[in-house]
Amino acid sequence: MNYNKKTVKDVDVKGKKVLLRCDFNVPQDKATGAITDDKRIRAALPTIQYLLEQGAAVIACSHLGKPKNGPEEKFSLAPVAKRLGELLGKDVTMAADVVGPDAQAKAAALQPGEILLLENTRFEAGETKNAPELAKAMASMAEVYVSDAFGAVHRAHASTAGVAAYLPAVSGFLIEKELEIMGGALADPKRPLVAILGGSKVSSKIGVINHLLDIADVIIIGGGMAYTFAKAQGGSVGTSLLESDWLDYCNDMTAKAREKGVKLLLPVDTLCAGEFSADAQPVLHDTMSIPDNMMGMDIGPKTVEAYTAAVKDAGTVIWNGPMGVFEFPAFAEGTRAIAKALASTDAITIIGGGDSAAAVAQMGFASKMTHISTGGGASLEFLEGKELPGVACLLDK
Ligand code: 3PG
Repeated sequence: MNYNKKTVKDVDVKGKKVLLRCDFNVPQDKATGAITDDKRIRAALPTIQYLLEQGAAVIACSHLGKPKNGPEEKFSLAPVAKRLGELLGKDVTMAADVVGPDAQAKAAALQPGEILLLENTRFEAGETKNAPELAKAMASMAEVYVSDAFGAVHRAHASTAGVAAYLPAVSGFLIEKELEIMGGALADPKRPLVAILGGSKVSSKIGVINHLLDIADVIIIGGGMAYTFAKAQGGSVGTSLLESDWLDYCNDMTAKAREKGVKLLLPVDTLCAGEFSADAQPVLHDTMSIPDNMMGMDIGPKTVEAYTAAVKDAGTVIWNGPMGVFEFPAFAEGTRAIAKALASTDAITIIGGGDSAAAVAQMGFASKMTHISTGGGASLEFLEGKELPGVACLLDK
C-alpha cells in the first residue's frame, strides 16, 4: 500500500471550508463524563492550528464511543469542544447534529480562522455503513477534506473514507507522522528490529506475527498469549489463558521463525496466581510447568533479563501489548521492566498504541519513547501490513 500521501501542505486552503476528520475518541470518566486523557485532542492541534493560520474555516468531526441508536447525551462531543477550545485558546462552536440543519447553518456561517465541531459522526446510522448519502452530505459543507484521524484509519466509514470520493482529500500532520515513523520502521528499519508482542490473545495478533516474521530479526512474546505457545510446545499451563484452537498455529509460527532465522523468544519463567485478583500472592514457576491450580499473570525475572538484553541490542523496537496483568501492581513488574528498557535504549522505540501506550504513560516513561501511536486497532492493522481505508482514500503525492 502507498503511504506517500498528499498533506495539508500540498493544497491551498486559504479562505476555504475544510472538513477535518479527527480521532477525538477519548477516554471519559464513567460517572462524570470528564475526559481522563486528552492525548488525542492534543495530537490534532498542529493540523488544526496550521489550517486556522492558513485562513481556512475548519469543520472538525469525529466519532466518540460506540452509540448504536442515534444521538445519546453520554456520547456527545460537547466535552471535547470545551477541551479543544481551552487548548486552542479560542472558541470552538459546537453543532447539535452532524449534517442536520444546525450543522449546515453553522458550517455555512463559519468564517476563515474559525472552528466548528460537528456532533458525534456515529449519531448518523450511515456513518459505520459508509453510506454515500451521508458522505455526500458531509462533503457538501466543505471544499477540502483533511483526515488526521490516525486512530480510525482502519475503519471504512463515511467520515473516515467515504467522504474522500467527493472532495480533494489529504492527510494532516498526525497521519503523516504516524505513517512516516511506523512505515519507516517496517520498510527500512535500523536493525536489529525487535518486535515485542503481548496482550491476552494469540488470535488477535496472528496478522501481526505473520507480517513481522518477514520483517523482524527478533520477536518477543509476552502476556496471556505466551501460554498458548507454551502449551503448544508441550508445557503445562494450569488455569492460564489458553486458546486451544491456536496450538497448531503457534507451532507453525515457531517453525516459520526457525526457517526464516527470526529469533522467537518465549517466557521461561512466570509469576503465577491462584486466582485472577489484585490481592493474589505472586508465585514464581517455570513457564513450561505451571501447576494445575495456578495461572500465569506476568513474566518472571529470568524472562525479564532475556527480553531486556534483546532490547539493549536493538536498533529499532516496536512494542504492542503488555507483558502481564499490569493493572494489578503485584503483576506489573514485567511490563514496567520492558518499558524501562525501552526508555533507556538508544534504539528507535515505537509503542503501537492501546494498552502498551497506556502502560508506558501510567509508568511515567512516555516522554522517553521515540513515538507512541495514537492508534489502537489502527496501529495493529498497520503492523499487520493491511490496507487502511482511511489512508488509501487520500490523494497520492
Ligand atoms: C480507537 O479508539 O481505537 C479508535 O478511535 C477507533 O474506535 P472504534 O474501535 O470504536 O472504531
